[in-house]
Amino acid sequence: MRIGIIGSGGREHAICASIKKSKKIEKIYCFPGNAGTDKIAENVSIDLNNFEIIKNFIHENNIELIIVGPEKPLVDGLVDYLEKYKIKVFGPNKLASQLEGSKIFTKKLCEKFKIPTAKFGIFENIESSKKFLNEVTFPTVIKADNLASGKGVYICNSLSEAMLAVEEIFNGKFGPTKNLLIEEFLDGEEMSFFVVCDGKSFKTFDTAQDHKRVLEGDKGKNTGGMGAYSPSRLITKELENKVIDRIINPTLKGLEEIGTNYKGFLYAGLMIVKNEPYLIEYNVRMGDPECQTILPKLKTDLFDVIIAATDGKLDNLKIEWEDLKSLCVVVCSKGYPDEFKKNIELENIKNVYENKHNYLFHAGTKKENNSVYATGGRVLNFVSTSNDFSEARKNIFENINKLNWSNGYYRRDIGYKVIK
Ligand code: AMP
Ligand code: GLY
Repeated sequence: MRIGIIGSGGREHAICASIKKSKKIEKIYCFPGNAGTDKIAENVSIDLNNFEIIKNFIHENNIELIIVGPEKPLVDGLVDYLEKYKIKVFGPNKLASQLEGSKIFTKKLCEKFKIPTAKFGIFENIESSKKFLNEVTFPTVIKADNLASGKGVYICNSLSEAMLAVEEIFNGKFGPTKNLLIEEFLDGEEMSFFVVCDGKSFKTFDTAQDHKRVLEGDKGKNTGGMGAYSPSRLITKELENKVIDRIINPTLKGLEEIGTNYKGFLYAGLMIVKNEPYLIEYNVRMGDPECQTILPKLKTDLFDVIIAATDGKLDNLKIEWEDLKSLCVVVCSKGYPDEFKKNIELENIKNVYENKHNYLFHAGTKKENNSVYATGGRVLNFVSTSNDFSEARKNIFENINKLNWSNGYYRRDIGYKVIK
């Protein structure tokens, strides 16, 4: 089959590499891909906002299935658009993508279906927000309603921090917004829980924990993710059942009630408080870097999983995993998530080794005249699988040393909760 993958991050390179192993794949196109996908697929530089150009390319090149990696095209309705032209797509439609596109949509669903989540209020202007803030205890959480690449969330320790957050959000820091959320602060440990859905049923798709902050000790600014490990140290059969019964099932039922269904990966960002799960947020896609961390453990052909989900046939599929631990360390450009230099050559990337247990997934890279350049904030993902997390991390550090990139930065403490 001829496949197209939308996106250019580490997640998409990992999906591309995993799919490539399937005997059923004839050719892969990546829109627009990176220097990593360039080695195993054809990268196509295309404007992802122009659905018509994407559709025409798909038709002209007889691409039979499209996998959408990132949230933006999903929230913008790419799936609905392509399906209108009879193109097979793996990913949720525009309405279901509101689970990530609007935090208020999700909160209202939680309210209606009694899904455990932080207590919250919705506010429409600076005055009413500030009035409410005078009555809350700190820390408190303030969130922009719209997509903000993980940056629209403020954990505020004081009234003055909270007032500033309210002003920044309503002054349009994350784009025009009509509302913000003020939420109770949940004190627990986070876990990423994934399922894959086919519109009728779903299968669990492993767990992970990621490190969102840029600095060691989980300090500093929020990023897209500086590393992850899988499985989560918190997951047990009992907890999994609670998540499915109290969070996943009522969510899918809620979508059904508003006349839609869910197809694709669904990512529940959870806070586990005393072994009880609370939904912090939904993402309508795999996590990044959780995807890179999880996929190397997948025994079942990823293409079989995706095509079964797309065709509504997940029920008949058993998804199997290697009984291994997996860890991922992200190497980013120094300065990320603020200013960083672009187009810096990764001179020693050829020295990095890859084998059955060690993987290199590109994110913000491009290839030019046979050299690889760093173009983004998060640049490379080093993943290793092993019987223990400590061994996996040791192998990653060895490999990062081979990269020997003076403009790169990475956290040396990824997985500290599972490594003594
Ligand atoms: P979100 O974009 O909603 O996932 O929020 C980003 C991060 O903020 C989460 O990964 C949590 O670390 C933190 N966070 C969000 N909401 C809460 C909450 N109600 N209580 C504690 N931490 C939160
Ligand atoms: N790792 C967090 C995310 O993908 O949103």
